Amino acid sequence: FYRTTCVKKLAGSPSLTSIPSTYAFTKAPQEDEAVSEDPEDPIPVIDFSLLAYGTPDQRSTIIQELGRACKDWGFFMVINHGVPERLLERVIEGISGFFDLTEEEQIREFEGKNVLNTSKSVTSFNTSSDKVFFWRDFLKLIIQHPHHHHFPNEPAGFREILLEYSKRSREVAMGLLKGISMSLGLGDTYIENTMNLQSGLQVLAANLYPPCPEPELAIGLPPHSDHGLLTLLIQNGISGLQVQHQSKWVNVNSIPNAFVVNVADQMEIMSNGKYKSVMHRAFVNEKATRISVATNFGPPLEMVVNPAPELVHPETNAPAYTGIKYGEYMELQKSNKVYGKSCLDHVRILSA
Ligand code: SIN
Ligand code: FE2
Repeated sequence: FYRTTCVKKLAGSPSLTSIPSTYAFTKAPQEDEAVSEDPEDPIPVIDFSLLAYGTPDQRSTIIQELGRACKDWGFFMVINHGVPERLLERVIEGISGFFDLTEEEQIREFEGKNVLNTSKSVTSFNTSSDKVFFWRDFLKLIIQHPHHHHFPNEPAGFREILLEYSKRSREVAMGLLKGISMSLGLGDTYIENTMNLQSGLQVLAANLYPPCPEPELAIGLPPHSDHGLLTLLIQNGISGLQVQHQSKWVNVNSIPNAFVVNVADQMEIMSNGKYKSVMHRAFVNEKATRISVATNFGPPLEMVVNPAPELVHPETNAPAYTGIKYGEYMELQKSNKVYGKSCLDHVRILSA
């Protein structure tokens, strides 16, 4: 369990008019690089209720849309997902409450209980190798299905909310993975079964980005892609997320209460590159605190993820990635600088 000075405390200091040099990027990506959504090519929106409860026709249409969203964007929003709005609000409130605890209280929540050495709250992906820190505090909680997890007890009620949210968001993720599986021409439980998701990993990463006096110099999260199969994100209504689409950065103005979903690296490997993990990054702003909660769904740590044999063909579609254990991949991402899709390059077969 690793802890550094929290950014929230730093940002809360009334005398702070500029950011410490450790948070300043010499060439910070400028916000004006980003474009607003193109009305001709909007971020796809998936109606989950049609996937879960639609008629066979509605289901097949939405599965096609889902496939197109994964292929063209690697990114989409999910509406009518059935997770109560109030639960989403309470997750955000709980996260906010957790970061209101003193550092000592935050640490106490994990002391002696950090079985996997994975639950943590720090300011950067990897404070020892990153030279510049990110303008965020984060709390990372890991569930190893079917029953291994440790959630904080403070603030009051937070644990129960996290448990409920983890369960409900997982149902949505599983439903989406069924649809994605179908869209690849595989059976609906193909991904679930071959990836052994019943014993899979679910990583919840909550980010708090405090207001920043020099938002153009700092960055909340640099461009990266996620490990795992799929990430589901909720936010507190403050924008800051950008995704890369056709070499441009697009501002994501999320629909209230929608899940923001992205294809992650293990899905790219498994689909043999048909569905690419999407690069995304988070900006900070001068006025408002932004909170986001990303939940990442992946196989068990010991699972070797390979391109699905059903999706490769020796002549027309050679395997484009070598198999790698999910746990090893996560280690790779931890020890690498988390910029771009550099971790995927380690398993990409260049001749393919
Ligand atoms: C993430 O990439 O994990 C979070 C991005 C965001 O804060 O929107
Ligand atoms: Fe991410």
